Amino acid sequence: MPPPFKKHVFVCLNERPTDSPRGDCTRKGAPDLLKKLKAALRARGLDEEIRANKAGCLDNCEHGCSVVVYPEGVWYGHVTEGDIDELVDQHLIRGNPVARLQLYKKS
Ligand code: FES
Repeated sequence: MPPPFKKHVFVCLNERPTDSPRGDCTRKGAPDLLKKLKAALRARGLDEEIRANKAGCLDNCEHGCSVVVYPEGVWYGHVTEGDIDELVDQHLIRGNPVARLQLYKKS
């Protein structure tokens, strides 16, 4: 039986050459962000229903750290460790995406 995850949160951990004009999420702190996200899910007892995964480049490098939540397909940019508790509590638990971090909003 597959793991019964209700949501997946993908965090870009891509690295580019240091002279890349697009930058990358790893240099903007994505590894620590993913660690904090995993810890926040564990602390709330959610790690068996919401899966935090590292991802390759999500093609939003200029807006890193880049995060996307499925199945709803909500894209976030400029996410920092300081945003994790709000993202977990407001979006993942209450179902209300964090508007100030959203990259694309459905009209
Ligand atoms: S390096 Fe993170 S979106 Fe491209």
